[in-house]
Amino acid sequence: MQFSKLAVCAALLLPATAMVAVAAAPHPAFKLRHDNFEAMGRAMKSTFDQFKKPTPNLATIRKNANVLAAAATKVKGHFPVGTGPEAGVKTEALAAIWARPADFAAATDRLVDTTKGLQAAAAGTDLAKIQAAAGAVGGSCKNCHDSFRKPRG
Ligand code: HEC
Repeated sequence: MQFSKLAVCAALLLPATAMVAVAAAPHPAFKLRHDNFEAMGRAMKSTFDQFKKPTPNLATIRKNANVLAAAATKVKGHFPVGTGPEAGVKTEALAAIWARPADFAAATDRLVDTTKGLQAAAAGTDLAKIQAAAGAVGGSCKNCHDSFRKPRG
């Protein structure tokens, strides 16, 4: 009898302990999106650094285009409900992401489209085209940040 009482006790305690653990650890989405955006930032910088060179390295640009296109597809899944400013975790994500989901999805789609465009342009050797496509990617970053990321002072 004593044993089964203990077992019931343990069963009751377990979920409570698990909940405390969840509340203490920030949602994994914060780190996932931080790392993903940082990777995109590095790929963009590396790409634009190439444009400043007398002979831009197309292989580097292609590699960056692949990184950007792969990273772009992940953005959609990086903002689950509950990971906004209300989470009490340091974040620049604005509540507008969840208040205007259709607009946010459009901004995400624009990133996916422009990064695919850069990949397509970078498959060729027309530097003017590649630069224009990279500019369009930059425009899609800014488009989303202007509406959905806390302005940086
Ligand atoms: C669909 C919206 C959206 C698009 C498109 C987007 N971003 Fe962001 N970005 C955000 C949001 C929201 C944050 C803030 C995330 C947070 O703090 O939780 C952010 C944060 C960042 C950060 C800071 C990372 C951090 O967590 O400190 C960098 C760097 C960044 N973005 C780069 C880019 C680049 C480069 C592109 C384009 C290639 C891009 N972003 C496109 C929404 C977007």
